[in-house]
Amino acid sequence: MARADDYHSFEREIDKWRMRRKDADQRKSYDEVFDQQNLMIIYKLFSDGVFDKLDFAVSTGKEGNVFRASTRDGKFVAVKIYRTSTSTFRDMAKYVHGDPRFKGLSSRKRKLIYAWANKEYLNLMAFTRAGVRVPKPIRQESNVVVMEYIGDEVEPARELRNVEVEDPGAIARKVLHYMKLAYQRARLVHSDISEFNILMLGQEPIIIDVGQAVLLDHPHAQEWLERDVRNMARYFRRLGVEIDVKKELEEIRKQ
Ligand SMILES: Nc1ncnc2c1ncn2[C@@H]1O[C@H](COP(=O)(O)OP(=O)(O)OP(=O)(O)O)[C@@H](O)[C@H]1O
Ligand SMILES: [Mg+2]
Repeated sequence: MARADDYHSFEREIDKWRMRRKDADQRKSYDEVFDQQNLMIIYKLFSDGVFDKLDFAVSTGKEGNVFRASTRDGKFVAVKIYRTSTSTFRDMAKYVHGDPRFKGLSSRKRKLIYAWANKEYLNLMAFTRAGVRVPKPIRQESNVVVMEYIGDEVEPARELRNVEVEDPGAIARKVLHYMKLAYQRARLVHSDISEFNILMLGQEPIIIDVGQAVLLDHPHAQEWLERDVRNMARYFRRLGVEIDVKKELEEIRKQ
């Protein structure tokens, strides 16, 4: 029973690690994340060699937590664990339904969350193929998505809203260009573009959080595309960059 022994020592490791977190709120979220089922999935990823060690939480959000993990050869990966115990999954339904890739999906909650993680993984692949700079997908297992870690040795990359950019106009143009590539080549609309979902690696914007991106034949695709462009226009206006929403929408849709 080497496997079971391994598993128990792994569980003890996680426990030790969890106890190091002093803050009660944080501990609550760790307890939620490291429930039995999640532990099994993380363990599988460990034993498959996807990563070797969870380093720390980069973000603890409403829908899930993102961790930095290291591989055996000292590289970093990001591990996004979708929470299976909260109710925001209701919002997920409207992005999954109407997407032919997820037709016939059972509405049972866990299944929906698995489908959500799978959707994020597939969207990361599609964006990457289209030339949009997103974290490269590495692996998806149930509600866990492993992807390229965006950051350096010291810290994770910061969200656009927390960074002073040198040339906001150039960043805006790049993001709008990514939206066009996504639309034209991957037939996807991100549907949640904002200063929260763009990470800055140096002066390079990287689009994240692509779970809710929808295909163009989704009934709300055009409406959400417009919302994305307006979001960019709103944010960059504050930095002195004017984005003509109508013109940019035409550009994105132009064949
Ligand atoms: N690949 C990555 N590399 C480094 N940091 C990441 C990565 N992916 C996500 N993050 C960090 O985790 C945060 C949350 O990730 P993401 O936006 O994908 O999840 P979310 O579901 O929107 O969570 P939240 O509810 O906190 O917004 C990001 O804002 C970013 O700081
Ligand atoms: Mg986000």
